[in-house]
Amino acid sequence: MADNEKIQELVHREARIRAMGGPDRVARQHQLGKWTARERLDALLDAGTFQELGAHVVARVGEPAPADGVVTGVGQVAGRPVYVYAQDFTVVGGSLGEMHAQKIQAMQDLALKAGCPMIGLNDSGGARIQEGVDALSGYGAIFRRNTHASGVIPQITVIMGPSAGGAVYSPALTDLVVMVRGTAQMFITGPQVIRAVTGEQVTAEQLGGADAQLTKSGVAHFAVDDDRAALALTRELLARFPANNVEDPPRRPARPPRAVDLNGLVPNDPNKPYDVRRVIAGLVDDESFLECQAGYADNVVVGWAYVDGQPMGVIANQPRVLAGTLDIDGSDKLARFVRLCDAFNFPLLTLVDTPGYLPGTAQEYGGIIRHGAKVLYAYAEATVPKITVIVRKAYGGAYLAMCSRSLGADLAIAWPSAEIAVMGPEPAANIIYRRDLETAEDPAAARREKVAEYRERFANPYVAAARGYVDAVVEPAETRHALVRMLSSLLSKREARPSKKHGNVPL
Ligand code: HXC
Repeated sequence: MADNEKIQELVHREARIRAMGGPDRVARQHQLGKWTARERLDALLDAGTFQELGAHVVARVGEPAPADGVVTGVGQVAGRPVYVYAQDFTVVGGSLGEMHAQKIQAMQDLALKAGCPMIGLNDSGGARIQEGVDALSGYGAIFRRNTHASGVIPQITVIMGPSAGGAVYSPALTDLVVMVRGTAQMFITGPQVIRAVTGEQVTAEQLGGADAQLTKSGVAHFAVDDDRAALALTRELLARFPANNVEDPPRRPARPPRAVDLNGLVPNDPNKPYDVRRVIAGLVDDESFLECQAGYADNVVVGWAYVDGQPMGVIANQPRVLAGTLDIDGSDKLARFVRLCDAFNFPLLTLVDTPGYLPGTAQEYGGIIRHGAKVLYAYAEATVPKITVIVRKAYGGAYLAMCSRSLGADLAIAWPSAEIAVMGPEPAANIIYRRDLETAEDPAAARREKVAEYRERFANPYVAAARGYVDAVVEPAETRHALVRMLSSLLSKREARPSKKHGNVPL
């Protein structure tokens, strides 16, 4: 009988915890188009796999709040374990106090020990005001754990409500940030503060909504329409990633690529653009390319794909945007993606068609030297298999930066349309044939002739192939086969770097 009472008490306590902020606050959450923490976990995890941990934790300050506003535990995604926390806005606004923070930290510690991904679902009013410095300190301890886990286990944050002030820094320290349009907002200082300090009028959505943080700042990697889409995307990302840095990303059944006329895709005129996504589609398994940060620095395209069932990270210049030049934002996007892939054992496929780094004072004053150096650093540092396909233009520093053989590509393919040279034919002809052009009777005709001569002598793949900087000149239509053969030969690659505390990436 006594035992039964104890069980009844447990049932009663669990019911109270499961009700979270109560029906009115849950109804308001739904009116805003948002799910509760538990509804979100149901959508994220395989049915029946969630084991809640820390449900009975309460704050030292104020009335005990169900789960202290954050549901934490372990569950499975596609049969593989993941640790999770989900803040619940219906309980004290999902605000983070000392014990709420300790619950998140406990999951971070377990995830790192077990070598499993860590997923955060954020919907919070930020530091719990009543808990003062204990709340702030809670954030600090989370940031430290985010940093220590970086590169060891995948960390994904899904922003599904407010995320303001210093609270934004845990997401920013994780590998991937997914945001929900209309409900997710990230900013350091909100619209009221901005209005008071600068007079600028801006709405919260304009300032830190999903599209702003995806396309303007590059803080977010994905923007989606609702909670359901955000959690489905997170499942897909988890299915593609290994559980940790000593596992390989899981293979999928191989599929042929989409039928794309690669031989006819790249225009003969080197100044004519085309969509590099079509080249990617013609090389990788059909429907397998998942683009990351689409909408930000679109002169560089990055994402994950499968090639004959083997996962790869794909990086490409996009000639349709800024002529495929590398600028500050594109360099940051590219370098961070390469480092993410290298950390989690995704071989790299780089498609090169770039006239160089973007010229201009805005770029120079903004530090294109420093940002561009990240690209070199990331590629040279990466130890995963690296295959480069030079599609068309590969000029100057950008040729080297885009995973050239000298920088560390294991194998480099060039298409017959490749132009590998110190600079483009027009400026090069102006410099090296200056005297001939000055004395020519018809300077325009002479320039055309000299440009053609330069192109034939220098701007082709055969000079580089003759020196061994290119391993094979391959017909575009045959490239998929060459890629599959080369990739399978590199999967056992092991490359060591000198032991060190850490490198000094040019941040
Ligand atoms: C305690 C909070 C809270 C907080 C919200 N609540 N934020 N309680 N600390 N930070 C409570 C509210 O009192 C309310 O309780 C419930 O959560 C819902 O909040 P509402 O204001 O009714 O919701 P809404 O109108 O949707 O507004 C959401 C909001 C607003 C914009 C997020 O709550 C807000 O401005 N909160 C404060 C945000 C903030 O400045 N946080 C500190 C950021 S600085 P009841 O009981 O009425 O339901 C920070 C520093 C971190 O986080 C530093 C790390 C280094």
